[in-house]
Amino acid sequence: MTIRSPRLADVAVIAAIQAASPETAQWNPLDYLKHDCRVCTVNGCVAGYLVQREVAPGEREILNLAVDPAERRKGIARQLLADALQRAQGAWFLEVRASNTAAIQLYESAGFHRAGRRPNYYADPAEDAIVMRFFS
Ligand SMILES: CC(C)(COP(=O)(O)OP(=O)(O)OC[C@H]1O[C@@H](n2cnc3c(N)ncnc32)[C@H](O)[C@@H]1OP(=O)(O)O)[C@@H](O)C(=O)NCCC(=O)NCCS
Repeated sequence: MTIRSPRLADVAVIAAIQAASPETAQWNPLDYLKHDCRVCTVNGCVAGYLVQREVAPGEREILNLAVDPAERRKGIARQLLADALQRAQGAWFLEVRASNTAAIQLYESAGFHRAGRRPNYYADPAEDAIVMRFFS
């Protein structure tokens, strides 16, 4: 398992993982290269990615995190999260669908706490967001 910055050639695989992960935001993966994006490779193949950005000095948000369905429950998301959190100190925020228990358990196991709820934050399907916070 290796974590590195993505290359242009990785974008198609990132797009495929995103398309297979309806729980996560469906943005243009090319835009991820403009943010702080890292991919995790297994045997040289991209198996997951995490995108984050600075929103204010000392404050960052996790925009997207997804793992290839065939590679889940192998610790890839935990590794991507640990990599992100140790690369920048300060406050971290994220929003997650209220029904996304896998992601919520992942973030709680990494030390995130629930900081609030945004009613009807998501569309298709409409759903509340749980806001989570962590200080590194
Ligand atoms: C959420 C997601 C990123 C987890 O990726 P993963 O690589 O399978 O997660 P890990 O193997 O690192 O799991 C770490 C911990 O997260 C929790 N977890 C992960 N998947 C879980 C599941 N399906 N059910 C319950 N807990 C889960 C567990 O606490 C797990 O620790 P454990 O395996 O020791 O029990 C993955 O399921 C995914 O890509 N989902 C679709 C996209 C998504 O929801 N992204 C989050 C958007 S905010």
